[in-house]
Amino acid sequence: MKKPVKVVVTGAAGQIGYSLLFRIGAGDMLGMDQPVDLCMLERNTESSMKAAKGVKMELDDCAFPLLNSITSTPDLKKAFKDAQIALLVGARPRTKDMNRSDLLNANAQIFIEQGRAINNYADRNIKVLVVGNPANTNAYIARKCAPDINPKNFTAMMRLDHNRSLTQLAQKTGCKVTDIEKFCVWGNHGNTMYPDITNTLIAGKKAEDLIPTDWYLDYFIPTVASRGSAIIEARGHSSAASAANAAIDHIHDWVLGTGDKWQTMAVPSNGEYGIPEGLCFGMPVTCNNGDYEVVKGLELTDFEREHILQNVKALEAERAVVDELIAKA
Ligand code: NAD
Ligand code: LMR
Repeated sequence: MKKPVKVVVTGAAGQIGYSLLFRIGAGDMLGMDQPVDLCMLERNTESSMKAAKGVKMELDDCAFPLLNSITSTPDLKKAFKDAQIALLVGARPRTKDMNRSDLLNANAQIFIEQGRAINNYADRNIKVLVVGNPANTNAYIARKCAPDINPKNFTAMMRLDHNRSLTQLAQKTGCKVTDIEKFCVWGNHGNTMYPDITNTLIAGKKAEDLIPTDWYLDYFIPTVASRGSAIIEARGHSSAASAANAAIDHIHDWVLGTGDKWQTMAVPSNGEYGIPEGLCFGMPVTCNNGDYEVVKGLELTDFEREHILQNVKALEAERAVVDELIAKA
């Protein structure tokens, strides 16, 4: 049997946590041969702690063979000590009348504190996935507050946007989601995100030849970008099970690999494709040997450049706000 991996999930008593933790326990994230020491971090309030206790009781009641231990704590040091994987979910979700970026002020402090705790206590090779919104900029904050950890290890979730797109494309073309290759969503998990089919193949054929341009421009791009709002409108709460599923997919692929198959991860830019260094940006990646690599050598069209630039602008504006918050903290 392998040695257990310590996985921290923040916001464990929230909506996403309620789906995510049970999938981790069942082995969906790290594989059926990988035991897990699961640590749930929640806010230090009576109601959050009580709710986390209830979730832990249910996890216990599942008798998951892979759960070596389950702890629940409000203590950052205890939670992040030697943590190897962190899913930073705990944050306030938006309501109907808000954009994701409206959450910056409400949530930035959480990621400042958690970045620092990761820097001080976590395993030096920790893999971090930020789910809490605005996810890209929160990942930027956590990374800036953890200068001793490899910046590459701070990622944000755009896999939900990727998965949403796959289903839209599959339904439109009558193909299976598994028939779709070389697709990615560039940029920010926000209104400007750019689901890009320039290189995409569907059942071996060029997607651009199968998909009408007006559907792509007028329906597909806005539908993917506004899917989060559509879910909030329909459910009265933001997406939860699909978000948890995307988080499982993101870490699963990062740890266990994709071969040469593209996935979307938001990762700190090293200046790829003209994206300013340090912005946490959705890009096409492949994963192998527990590491990810941005797909190289793509010749961008003017259309791609224009949409990438819109996302750069959005993330630069958020970065300007949080750089001040970090400096003051
Ligand atoms: P929720 O309100 O149901 O749960 C959030 C939980 O986080 C609560 O239990 C709360 O007590 C906890 N929390 C708050 N501050 C904390 C802290 N400092 N430490 C630990 N726990 C803390 O929200 P949810 O629906 O689970 O969503 C969580 C976040 O994920 C939101 O910001 C939401 O917008 C975001 N989200 C992102 C994506 C994505 O694709 N990136 C998708 C869906 C939701
Ligand atoms: C989503 O895309 O479903 C989440 O980011 C929640 C939201 O605020 O849209």
